[in-house]
Amino acid sequence: MKKLLLILLCVPLIGFGQNPNYSEDIAPIIYNNCLQCHHNGGIASLSLETYSSAVFNSGIIQHLTSTGEMPPWPPDTLYQNYAFENTLTIDEITKITDWISNGTPIGDTLLLPPMPTFSNTSQFGTPDLELQMPTYSSTASANSDDYVCFSIPTGLTTNKKIRAIEIIPGNPQIVHHVLLSIDISPSSSVTTTTNCMGPTGKMIYVYAPGSVPLEYPQDINSIFGVELAANSSISLGMHYPEGSFGQLDSTKVRFYFYPDTTNIRQISTDFLIQNFTFYLPPHQVTEVSASFGPTSEDLSMMSVFPHMHLLGRDMECYAVTPSNDTINFIRINNWDFEWQGFYFFEKFIKIPNGSMIYANGHYDNTISASNPNPIPVTAGLNTEDEMFIFIFQFLPYQLGDENIFIDSTYISTNINYPNINNSDKQQILKIVDILGREIPHPNPNQPFFIIYDDGIIEKRIIIE
Ligand code: HEC
Repeated sequence: MKKLLLILLCVPLIGFGQNPNYSEDIAPIIYNNCLQCHHNGGIASLSLETYSSAVFNSGIIQHLTSTGEMPPWPPDTLYQNYAFENTLTIDEITKITDWISNGTPIGDTLLLPPMPTFSNTSQFGTPDLELQMPTYSSTASANSDDYVCFSIPTGLTTNKKIRAIEIIPGNPQIVHHVLLSIDISPSSSVTTTTNCMGPTGKMIYVYAPGSVPLEYPQDINSIFGVELAANSSISLGMHYPEGSFGQLDSTKVRFYFYPDTTNIRQISTDFLIQNFTFYLPPHQVTEVSASFGPTSEDLSMMSVFPHMHLLGRDMECYAVTPSNDTINFIRINNWDFEWQGFYFFEKFIKIPNGSMIYANGHYDNTISASNPNPIPVTAGLNTEDEMFIFIFQFLPYQLGDENIFIDSTYISTNINYPNINNSDKQQILKIVDILGREIPHPNPNQPFFIIYDDGIIEKRIIIE
């Protein structure tokens, strides 16, 4: 009679796998972390769907992954962790380097993970409201971007409760980001505002290439959402990058509502941190800071949206509680206007009543290729102005909020971005004894280790 004892589970061994091959080691990284942008017809012009494309671009892939430029994920993950984080581990970066220095072997293609699929069909079913901006021709020139806002009337005659939001870029290759807000001033036609870095009104969602749709969290006790008032408009703040001149776009936003009778816990969006009075003299780096508080009740923070324009260099925001604990929200070490969004905390973060929120950041107004003639810059909404804000999505705290995962519902309904690292796809690489010697099969009553291809090691013993 054999008994199997599982003594120790899941010890990742860094540095394991010095002979990585494409099928087992590299394709899983690319499929999971790159293809959402680098597929045919995706935002990035380079498709990385095939072995040959990965090999052909291996040099630049190695460079951009080791510098951290790809995949793009601006927040510092040593400071705070987020839902939907897309970063590579040191181990994954090492695998890419080792794979290239070993001559990019393909391995056994039968072991390739399933190719993720990308389509415009929604994971949420039929939208309850779909709004589309008029077809627009980008006015971006060879060296300046186009920022334009469209305010589109919803035509709603009753208030609705938003469950999920999805942006479908009309022309994914030129839509660099979309800032979405609710504009409550009634209007009967679409308003277009040029030179617009961001829409006015209550910001609720940001699309950037690769971003996931927003589905508000739910658990047994709480259903979260946002009210969309009757007669309001939806503003799309569009960003088309340089070089897109003359290309057409007509981006859509889709809303999914809860039944009208649903009791939702309404999420607020607010510019908790803002400084609209700073001045950035030319030829220097200037620090800007701001604070908020003390807060007047316990709050549950869901997400943060840090925002600067083109001179921004870095920014950081955190809370200090009455008992002097520091709670980190976000730190961006290399601000890049091209990559911005709401960053959702893994779980709601509780900020106790009486806390202060602090933020600081730096602007670089010295001579550079993108800023050849520095001039004095002040705070403002236009491209040539600067901003220093942190928008938060939050609500009054209720007991247990800090245990609610923000993306738990997303994971369960996720069809577009399969998590291919799950354990049923693990392959056994080898079995070793306690001294690390490979053995053909385990011996009873002696501990042994199963080494899987994803770096996980299990220690087991069969007792006879
Ligand atoms: C969120 C979207 C996104 C993700 C995820 C992403 N990229 Fe990119 N990548 C881009 C964009 C946008 C560019 C800009 C150039 C373009 O349009 O191809 C780019 C550029 C590149 C380039 C340079 C292409 C060139 O011709 O100059 C390489 C190589 C690259 N990415 C590799 C990767 C790898 C490897 C991963 C995954 C580890 C990854 N990227 C993840 C969006 C993304």
